[in-house]
Amino acid sequence: MRTEYCGLIDTRFLGQTVTLFGWVHRRRDHGGVIFIDVRDREGLVQVVIDPDTPQTFATADRVRGEYVVRVSGRVRERPAGTVNPNLVSGAVEVLAKDIEILNASLTPPFQLDEETLGENVRLEHRVIDLRRPEMQRNLRLRYRVAMAVRRYLDAHGFIDVETPMLTRSTPEGARDFLVPSRMHAGQFYALPQSPQLFKQLLMIAGFDRYYQITKCFRDEDLRADRQPEFTQIDVEVSFLGVGEITALMEQMIVSVFREAMAIDLPTPFPRMPFAEAMSRYGSDKPDLRVSLELTELTDVMRDVEFKVFSSAATMAGGRVAALRVPGGGGLTRGEIDGYTQFVTIYGAKGLAYIKVNDAGKGREGLQSPIVKNLSDAALAHVLERTGARDGDLIFFGADKAKVVNESLGALRAKIGHEKGFASSGWKPLWVLDFPMFEWNDEEKRWDSLHHPFTSPMDGHEDFLDGNPGKALSKAYDMVLNGWEIGGGSVRIHRQDVQSKVFSALNIQEDEARAKFGFLLDALQYGAPPHGGIAFGLDRIVTLMSGATSIRDVIAFPKTQRGQCLLTRAPSDVDEKQLRELHIRVRTPEKP
Ligand code: AMO
Ligand code: AMP
Repeated sequence: MRTEYCGLIDTRFLGQTVTLFGWVHRRRDHGGVIFIDVRDREGLVQVVIDPDTPQTFATADRVRGEYVVRVSGRVRERPAGTVNPNLVSGAVEVLAKDIEILNASLTPPFQLDEETLGENVRLEHRVIDLRRPEMQRNLRLRYRVAMAVRRYLDAHGFIDVETPMLTRSTPEGARDFLVPSRMHAGQFYALPQSPQLFKQLLMIAGFDRYYQITKCFRDEDLRADRQPEFTQIDVEVSFLGVGEITALMEQMIVSVFREAMAIDLPTPFPRMPFAEAMSRYGSDKPDLRVSLELTELTDVMRDVEFKVFSSAATMAGGRVAALRVPGGGGLTRGEIDGYTQFVTIYGAKGLAYIKVNDAGKGREGLQSPIVKNLSDAALAHVLERTGARDGDLIFFGADKAKVVNESLGALRAKIGHEKGFASSGWKPLWVLDFPMFEWNDEEKRWDSLHHPFTSPMDGHEDFLDGNPGKALSKAYDMVLNGWEIGGGSVRIHRQDVQSKVFSALNIQEDEARAKFGFLLDALQYGAPPHGGIAFGLDRIVTLMSGATSIRDVIAFPKTQRGQCLLTRAPSDVDEKQLRELHIRVRTPEKP
C-alpha cells in the first residue's frame, strides 16, 4: 500500500516509515551513496541508498531513468545546506530500506526536464511528454475547470444532455468531417461542428436549461488556437434575453477562475458594440491589456493629394486609420521595415508613417515620406485626433476596411506586447451588437456572421429584405486577452423570421427544408424564446495555463496538419473495409 504520493512527503512524515510508488526521475551516484529522485503525479522526493544495506544498494545500482519502483524507507531531515525550497518534499529525504523494481524502461527518447524539446518529438512520444510536470499540471487544471463549470451549471438548474456524434451537417461555417454509412450505400453522416440544432430542439422540447461539455469537429485550417476536434462548454436556456444570458455566463466564468485558479476577475465585464471594437481596435476580439488604439481618419483624407489615402477614403467600404506609438520616434529603420513586412500578412500594401519630432513646428517638425502630399488641414487632424506628442510615431493603414482593421489590429497587438504597452493580468469583455451578415466578396453573397439561427435585434427584421448589411443581431462573444473564448446568441424562435433569414442568405426554401426541415418543423410546435452560448474549453485552459498552443492542454492533440503523431491517424484502411463502405479511393495522394 502506498503511504502517500512522492511529491507530498514532507516534514509531517519525519521519523515514519513510508512506502512510495513512482518513476525514477534521476539517479546520481555520489561515491558510495546513491540518490534517486522518485517521481509521481504529485512531484519528486529524494531517496537515499546507503551501502550499509547491500541488497537494496545493489538494486538501486541497477535502476535507470523511468524505471518503475516501489521504495520503502524512513523519512528524515535533509542535511543542512541541501534543502530544496522549490519542492514540497524539499526539506526531507527517504532513507531506503527496500527497493523493488516493478518494471524497467528503455532509455526515454528525451529527458523530461530537457528545455528545448521540438513539438513533433513530444507528440510522437506523447506518453513520455505527458509525464512532464507541466503537462500533468495542464491536464489537472483542465479537469478543475470542467468540474467548476459542472458545479456552477448544476447549481443553476442546468442538466447535461448528450447529443449525437453521428448526425447531419451543422452550419457553423467550416467543412464537415464525414463518416460513410455501411448500411446506406453512398450516404454519409457528418460529425457535429457543434450541438447547435440539437440544443435548440431540446429547448423546444421543454428542458429549459441544457449544458454539455462535448467534442465538436471542424475540418478547417489549423492554427495555434484551433484543433480539428475541440471541446465546447455548450449551453442553452429558454425565456432569457441577451442581458440575462451574458450575466449568467459571466458569473460562470468568474466562478471558474475563482475555483480553478483562485483569481477574481474584475466584474462586470465591459460590454462593447462590435462597431466600436472594430473602430478602436480593428478587431472583434481586442486584447484590452494593450493600451494602444486606432484613430479614425477616413473622413479627413478624402481629398488629400496622397492617392493611397484619398482613394481608400473615397471607395465604398474603404478606411484610413492611424496607430500612434508613444515614443515610437525611437524605432529603428529596421524595426519599421519589419512591421511593414508584418502587415503584408494581412494584405496591407504598405505602412506609411510619420515621426513627430516637433509638433509645434507644424509640417516642418514632421519627418515622413508622405507629409508633402498631405494638406495642412489633414495633418492638423492627424496630430489632434491621435493626440500625438513629440517623439511619437504614427503608422497609417489605407485600404478596404477589412485589410486596415486586420493589419493595424494585429500591429497594435504586436507593438503593444513587444514595446511595453501591455499590462499583465486578465482583461475580459463582451462584444455585442454584431451585424447579422457579412458580405462574401468572392461568392458575391451575404454570409451569417454567427450562424443562420441567430435572431436579429428587435426591429431589425425589417432590414432583412432590402438592406441586410444594416441588420444587427442578438449575438455576443466573450473575449479574454485577445482570444475569443465563447460565442452565442439569442435564437430565432419564429418560423417566419427564420425563413426571411434563409432568404437573405440566398438559401432557397427547398434547400432549407432539405437541410434543416426538422428544425423548421419544430419551430412551429410552440418554440419558446431561447438562446445560448458555447465556450472553447481548450482555449480557456490554454489562457489560464499560460501555454502558447491549445495542443498543450489536450492529452492527445493533432498537429497543424491534422495528424496524430502518436497513433499515426489518419491512416490507410484495407480494401475490404472500403468495399463494405461502398468507397473507391480515386487519387490516393501520399504526403
Ligand atoms: P462558435 O463557432 O463561435 O459557436 O464556437 C464557440 C467557441 O468554440 C471555440 N472554438 C474552437 N476552439 C478550438 N478549435 C476550434 N477549431 C474552434 N472553433 C471554435 C471558440 C469559440 O468561441 N453553436 C455556436 C455557439 C452558440 O451559438 O451557442 C458555436 O459553435 O472559443
Ligand atoms: P509610395 O507612394 O508607394 O512610395 O508609398 C509611400 C508610403 O506609403 C510608404 O511608406 C508605403 O509603405 C506607404 N503605403 C503604401 N500603400 C499603403 C497603404 N495601402 N496603407 C498604408 N500605407 C501605405
